[in-house]
Amino acid sequence: ERTRVVVVGGGPAGLLLSHLLAADGVDHVVLEARTRTEIENTHRAGILEAASVQTLVDAGLDRVLREGDRHGGIDLRFDGEMHHIDLDALTGRSVWLYPQTQVFKDLADKRAADGGDVRYGARVTEVLDLDTAEPSVVYELDGVVRRLRADIVVGADGSRSVCRHLLPESVRRSYSTEYPYAWFGVIVEAPRSAPELVYTASEHGFALVSQRTPTHQRLYFQCSPDEDPAGWSDEQIWAELQRRVAGPDGFALKEGPVEERAVLRFRSSVVEPVRHGRMLLVGDAAHTVPPTGAKGLNLALADVVLLHDVLSTWFARGDAAHEELLDEYGVRAAHRVWRAQHFSAWMSRMLHSHPGESGFEARRRVAELRTLVESEAGRRFLAEGYTGWGPIITE
Ligand code: DHB
Repeated sequence: ERTRVVVVGGGPAGLLLSHLLAADGVDHVVLEARTRTEIENTHRAGILEAASVQTLVDAGLDRVLREGDRHGGIDLRFDGEMHHIDLDALTGRSVWLYPQTQVFKDLADKRAADGGDVRYGARVTEVLDLDTAEPSVVYELDGVVRRLRADIVVGADGSRSVCRHLLPESVRRSYSTEYPYAWFGVIVEAPRSAPELVYTASEHGFALVSQRTPTHQRLYFQCSPDEDPAGWSDEQIWAELQRRVAGPDGFALKEGPVEERAVLRFRSSVVEPVRHGRMLLVGDAAHTVPPTGAKGLNLALADVVLLHDVLSTWFARGDAAHEELLDEYGVRAAHRVWRAQHFSAWMSRMLHSHPGESGFEARRRVAELRTLVESEAGRRFLAEGYTGWGPIITE
């Protein structure tokens, strides 16, 4: 079988690229190892930058505007007090609470309705001939091994990417940092505890108060990376969350049954180059960020917008010989990737207690937060990063 683009990975990044390629009339196939149900049931982050919402709306997916919640601000909470960051007033932009699983559903439904060729349950076993003008992807579906030849292979296959490992050692540069903490994430049946998201630093560690629906909240608290979520009773989870957000203002979380729980690992990583021959990497396959600030999905969608722009030019020129043109994608994407890396690492380090940190360091972090919120320039710096530094510029 022959197509023009094989997109490995049918998460939000792979499906958005598929949608954009279809709109250009570029023949392509998406191969996704998991089933739709598995992806839909994986909880991910919930915040979309304004530019991500614009990308979805431009693609004809406007359910986010009807069912998402626009948030014009966030709160930073430390020393038991709220400090409001007015994103709207500081940047003219807001963010939207709209969980990643909804973004996936919208894209998957749209591809299905448009007759897109998305093959779920297709496990890629080999990628061949990346150094030639006709790479191919070998995959297994329903126990049958098949081969797809193409002009381009896109690795949109997430943090455990198969495609990333095809970058030869001789050219691959990997950058990463580890964090000595993780998040204990829960979905609880209770109405929201605050109108906007609350990022809390306390002497007992970080906590994040987020939301999902009028009946369910999404809450997280800092824990050890090897914490076993099954070892916690609902009462213990609530006690831990409440003591982290407690303060003289009497703020408390609305409690209810804990319906789901999981520990989320923290890691920052970037792999370069993002092109090798006819293969390009997008999203988590190319870089991962810690969850603080919810940059992962936003960055993946921004990658896709840039890659689509470069691929359109490349296909339109019909000048397939000029592979270097494809390098423009990596050059343009890198600016946002590294800004998001900095932002996510900075937010994480400022808000979390480092295990065994000194009294000096704990007080310095509070001073950093105080300096930030008491300065309009500081609040704007945070707000610019949080809302995503403006539109994804493709020119
Ligand atoms: C959510 C997750 C985040 O990492 C974040 O910074 C904000 C919100 C969420 O899942 O709702």
